[in-house]
Amino acid sequence: MMNQKVRELLNDQINKELYSAYIYLDFSNYFEERGLDGFANWYFIQAQEERDHAMLFYRYLLNNNEKVELKAIEKPSYALTSDLDVLKHGLEHEMLVTSLINNIYAEAYNDKDFRTMQFLDWFVKEQGEEETNANDLITKYELFASDAKGLYMLNSELKARVYSAPSLVL
Ligand code: FEO
Repeated sequence: MMNQKVRELLNDQINKELYSAYIYLDFSNYFEERGLDGFANWYFIQAQEERDHAMLFYRYLLNNNEKVELKAIEKPSYALTSDLDVLKHGLEHEMLVTSLINNIYAEAYNDKDFRTMQFLDWFVKEQGEEETNANDLITKYELFASDAKGLYMLNSELKARVYSAPSLVL
């Protein structure tokens, strides 16, 4: 039987990951309106990955015979006032998600819930990658997107991103 605090945090994380998907869909929508289809593509795929993350938490609870309780998804709250602002909100958001994952990990550790810790190991690594990707995007934008040609090239690079399903299988 899973510790109730750990279960609640895992259950909440389903909602947080779906909220992340919603935020990235909002970012994608912002870039669609700007006519930057590569940036829009990059965040659309990001939204798909977040939905996958939610499903992994959902499936993990069910596989452990734990109850899942779906909650309302909040409206995206970030004010999207410039391209760079959007990219920075992306990093800010990933740092928040990292802290949430670490918090669940700490509770699982306290409870000697080694199974949940092992499940979360994939997310700890994933968060490291997501923060790096978000940071790289900011750096590239600041370095190359100050003129139309640079922005065009960066947009083309981001258009090449393709979706791939998560490597974690439950
Ligand atoms: Fe599922 Fe980007 O954290």
